[in-house]
Amino acid sequence: MKIGLLTGGGDCPGLNAVIRAVVRRASRSGSEVLGIRNGWAGLLKGLVEPLTDYSVAGILPKGGTILGTSRTNPFTSRESVQKCFDHFRRYGLDALVAVGGEDTLGVASLFHKEGMPVVGVPKTIDNDLPGTDYTFGFDTAVNVAMEAIDRLHSTAESHQRIMVVEVMGRDSGWIATVAGMAGGADYILVPEQPYDIDEVCNSLKQRHARGRRFSIVVVAEGAVSKEGRLVAQAPGVDEFGHVRLGGIGTLIAREIEERTGFETRVTILGHVQRGGSPSAFDRVLGTRFGLRAVDLLHEGRSGRMVALSGSRIVDIPLPEPGQEKRSLDMQLYRDAATFFG
Ligand code: F6P
Repeated sequence: MKIGLLTGGGDCPGLNAVIRAVVRRASRSGSEVLGIRNGWAGLLKGLVEPLTDYSVAGILPKGGTILGTSRTNPFTSRESVQKCFDHFRRYGLDALVAVGGEDTLGVASLFHKEGMPVVGVPKTIDNDLPGTDYTFGFDTAVNVAMEAIDRLHSTAESHQRIMVVEVMGRDSGWIATVAGMAGGADYILVPEQPYDIDEVCNSLKQRHARGRRFSIVVVAEGAVSKEGRLVAQAPGVDEFGHVRLGGIGTLIAREIEERTGFETRVTILGHVQRGGSPSAFDRVLGTRFGLRAVDLLHEGRSGRMVALSGSRIVDIPLPEPGQEKRSLDMQLYRDAATFFG
């Protein structure tokens, strides 16, 4: 088989593990892999490069994706869809492995419906894709955020300040909750649970009244106030209709300082959470996903997405575009909340 391989959407640690595994499994079974550059943009423009065991050697510990990525949506016009099919045929491809989040996989499912054999591999640091217990990238991002929280503890304590840490998580509070729990956060704000700033401040005041002189507040970038306020960084939306989030931490810090009188600072972690070398968990999950994706194509089972169920790699149908996200397990949030205040 000749298999096209692309990575789309926001990058995350572990993508190179998938690429390496796809190439290894394919080459050991007599198939070829053509890397498509920059996600769906590469299929649209015909940007390809052969991938061999040699070209993927040494990429396992590297962050990002050697293939590049973009948030391109070819389904914005029929002409673009046709161009993708033209390139698919011109390069003699039999099938595609698309590695990405909800948007990339939604496009994969549309191509599959139009007759292109595609298998999906789920990725996102946000961990909010339905059908898989974990996505790779999440564990690394959580560890980055946890380490930041650990570091903020000592400076917060020295200065007797409140530290607000903004983490990623467009629609879900997985990173905020797991990193906050691991780092011992004193309050966590997530998109799934609209927050009341008065409640946050009262909880912090009570903690300080009990003699604690500093606090750590973790806020997911997509957290919304009970009045429904969401903070965007820039006007407009991308090709999939997403606003660019970021900055809610600054607002929360200002509100906390004004309402409590405690000196407050903010740290916005941003893309630091997506960069750098993947954790062992993410390397292994990415590797297992990549191997299974090629197996599915060799078995003639396209239109599927690999997924983690417990400790097993399974496969499920490719997600439909706009499918509902996997929101945070609220029991986990309640467990984390036991330590608030
Ligand atoms: O979807 C993953 C994610 O990291 C979100 O948490 C975040 O809102 C978004 O990507 C940022 O994307 P970009 O790289 O386009 O700024």
